[in-house]
Amino acid sequence: MKIIEMSRTHPPLVPAVFDPEYRTAMEGALSRYTPSEMVGAHRWMGTEEDRRAGAVFTGCRLGAIPDVGRVVVTNGTQSAFNMLLGGLVRAGNALAVESLTYPPILVLAKRFGFVPKGARMDDEGIIPEALEDLCRSDRPKALYLLSTLQNPTTATMSLARRQQIVEVARKYDLQIIEDDIYSLLPEALPPPIAALAPERSWYMLGVAKTIAAGMKIAYVVAPTAARAEEQFWPGVRATFWMSAPISAAVSTQLIETGGAERIICAVRQEMVARHNIVRPLLTETDFETKDGALHVWIRLPHTVTAAALASLIRERGVTIGTADPYVLPGEAAPQAIRVGIGHAKSRTELEEAIRIIAVSHAEFRKARQ
Ligand SMILES: Cc1ncc(COP(=O)(O)O)c(C=O)c1O
Repeated sequence: MKIIEMSRTHPPLVPAVFDPEYRTAMEGALSRYTPSEMVGAHRWMGTEEDRRAGAVFTGCRLGAIPDVGRVVVTNGTQSAFNMLLGGLVRAGNALAVESLTYPPILVLAKRFGFVPKGARMDDEGIIPEALEDLCRSDRPKALYLLSTLQNPTTATMSLARRQQIVEVARKYDLQIIEDDIYSLLPEALPPPIAALAPERSWYMLGVAKTIAAGMKIAYVVAPTAARAEEQFWPGVRATFWMSAPISAAVSTQLIETGGAERIICAVRQEMVARHNIVRPLLTETDFETKDGALHVWIRLPHTVTAAALASLIRERGVTIGTADPYVLPGEAAPQAIRVGIGHAKSRTELEEAIRIIAVSHAEFRKARQ
């Protein structure tokens, strides 16, 4: 049976724009450096050109181009997590997170021995009072969050909410690890928290959700150049987190030539079309999504269990996610499903899958009334 994969939040492929841009960038990288110059050694925190490109890329969200010394080129956000969480939150200490958090954080908590502590959320993400209570009770060293299109709920903070989070972070001396990976598709967003509190923010902007997941590139902006070196090099003698030189060089070319922006525009346009297909088909469900979001979060009636619904939908040929992987140890999972809408190969396939989800949801609800 054909399976339509809807459990991932990959961006849609836009080969008409991506392929020529990527080829040109690859050729540009190969004419800029000889192969031995390019891959003969690690690129450490990135070459000067890579870091400058990263500064320009992150500067689009930060509102000003950060000093190049603060920018580190990494092999994707998860690699950056390994360095930051191991370094900023030592074993036995607490890390404040959203009450439903990106699952790799929970894996790394076990690996490094820190304790994730969830702060309650509303439709704007973490509630400042809940964060403050958590700071008093657990004294976390840092806060990891998504201020835009939170995974899995799609909650997005207003400017006022971002400012309130900064106030709490300053009061309790929290480092802020802000993952802004979903922020390049929506338009007219408030600035990231890192722009409001650069002195304590570790800003992460990966390309996986906009340009291509397989590039494995994420730019990190540290509070200062010295702190960047402390966490990434030469303080920590590990190289697994460094980007592959060819990918860093291609990414630099894409940013410098405007190719990155053209690809992002094409992805954004495709997502507008996909949202226009998805939203009318889900009106009978309690769904949440936002312009530019790569997924939809559907809260289920209390009579419906997410696992049972997901399993029926799977039998009908579509894979989706539930809240389970996002839940902190000891907490109960809300009954909800996460449906990725960027990964389906075509709009027709997307529509087919969403219809299966909507029909299954309606059947389940009726059967359990
Ligand atoms: C919140 C969040 N951060 C990061 C990533 C992936 O980042 P990378 O591929 O750069 O490691 C994902 C992908 O699912 C994600 O949802």
